[in-house]
Amino acid sequence: MAKRSASQNRSESPLAEPHEERILVLDFGSQTAQLIARRVRDQNVFCQLVRHDLSVDRIRELNPRGLILSGGPASVYAPGAPLPDPGIFDLGLPILGICYGMQAACRAEGCEVLPSPSREFGFTPCRRVAADPLLEGLPNEWTAWMSHGDHVQNLSAHFQVLATTSNCPNAAVRHLAKPIYGLQFHPEVTHTQHGEQLLANFVKNICGCRGAWRMSSFIDQQVHTIRERVGDSRVICGLSGGVDSSVTAALLFRAIGAQLSCIFVDNGLLRSGEKEQVRAEFSGHFQTDLHVVDARERFLAELAGVSDPQQKRKIIGRVFIEVFRDEARSIKDAHFLAQGTLYPDVIESGANPDGPAATIKSHHNVGGLPEELGFELIEPLRDLFKDEVRRMGLELGLPEKLIWRHPFPGPGLAVRCLGAVTETRLATLRAVDAIFIEELENAGLYREVQQAFAVLLPLQTVGVMGDSRTYEDVVALRAVNTDNFMTADWSRLPYDLLQRISTRVINSVRGVNRCVYDVSSKPPSTIEWE
Ligand code: XMP
Repeated sequence: MAKRSASQNRSESPLAEPHEERILVLDFGSQTAQLIARRVRDQNVFCQLVRHDLSVDRIRELNPRGLILSGGPASVYAPGAPLPDPGIFDLGLPILGICYGMQAACRAEGCEVLPSPSREFGFTPCRRVAADPLLEGLPNEWTAWMSHGDHVQNLSAHFQVLATTSNCPNAAVRHLAKPIYGLQFHPEVTHTQHGEQLLANFVKNICGCRGAWRMSSFIDQQVHTIRERVGDSRVICGLSGGVDSSVTAALLFRAIGAQLSCIFVDNGLLRSGEKEQVRAEFSGHFQTDLHVVDARERFLAELAGVSDPQQKRKIIGRVFIEVFRDEARSIKDAHFLAQGTLYPDVIESGANPDGPAATIKSHHNVGGLPEELGFELIEPLRDLFKDEVRRMGLELGLPEKLIWRHPFPGPGLAVRCLGAVTETRLATLRAVDAIFIEELENAGLYREVQQAFAVLLPLQTVGVMGDSRTYEDVVALRAVNTDNFMTADWSRLPYDLLQRISTRVINSVRGVNRCVYDVSSKPPSTIEWE
């Protein structure tokens, strides 16, 4: 059993204000804007992405210690280019402009921005030409990562150059009278050497943040907010067995204890042992009012004869909502529904009025609950990134095994059971998947890959058993390495491990006589097979 890291008592410590040091990132559309926020949070300073044109009044209300202007694809001199409220440069707040953000800041302060003679993309040696607290601890020369077509050509007399590259004389600059800085390169990407130090210098040396944002104080604050909001009402939390819903439930339990009811729908498409783990955790360890709904027959009946993947997804999504709604209605006095929405979802949905505009959401969305259920939503993780949710889960006493569990799609094993979904085929797939995961864990490689699973193919191949031929099922094993699941590379698992898994699978899972390993990357393949 994994070691529990914190006590499970209700926290009674005095309310800390975890957002007292806040940095805002004004998002001008850069691919790496979220990454800037992540890097700032690595300094234990709370950081939020906001729309590029957030008004000065609203910024004053949010009371940040500094602003970072992100990169972006536009040209600052193009008609209609996104620009910040011009008042931000007179707030007296430290400002760091990155790439487009630098050009926007410098232009607003009287510098000239022009197309670069040649578009600069990739690694560039960068040389310090003046000392400054922003560059503290950096060597005289480092490699920076650039991606720009424009640059600040003519600095106004108010600016000083801090660093240059061969193509870009104004690679790092500062205003002499105001705390405004600009970097033409991207400190937030790991390709830039000492980028983390640069951002830490901005946050600590220039903005004066102490780095006091702690998960424990964030938990205390959330507990307090939840108690205030919920009062005597009951809160329902849907559990999927995954990290986000488990952490949400554990946090809710700490805040309101017996007023929490959890619903776990057994759709018959779960992995081996999953239901038992949820029971052990939320009924045994946290003694929540856990409702395990056995809807296996209903899901399988609705899926009978269906082999089209999108059709499977639709059916599972619909039936899940129906089953969940029926169970939720049986719980008296419930006004709230808790969901494990994370910060990247909030950003991508465009739901926050201060947040950046919505982008196209590229993830599948099965298992979402519609508004018609009539509950008020509680989303206590909506300020957190995934790794922060994991940290919170560990602090709340959830076991490591659950915290590091690979993501599992809403439609479950149905989209890994290619073709018809039957109880027998699911049992075969479940057995193979369990062997694969167990062997990965035994080899100490489970956490080295971000997702691993088995797939049951809808065809049979020839084999030989004793003197006779067999025609039996083929299974595929898939393991991937990925940062964000949008792109992925197949994992180079050791041959002897694959050998061990294949032997165990073929010897012990009846009806399987062939095991293959998927060596395709995404794109052009996807992670799932359906
Ligand atoms: P693909 O297969 O698109 O998967 O490369 C990317 C990530 O999304 C997961 N996935 C799903 N998650 N409902 C979900 O909740 C789905 O229908 C679904 N399909 C794929 C997949 O497991 C991977 O993590």
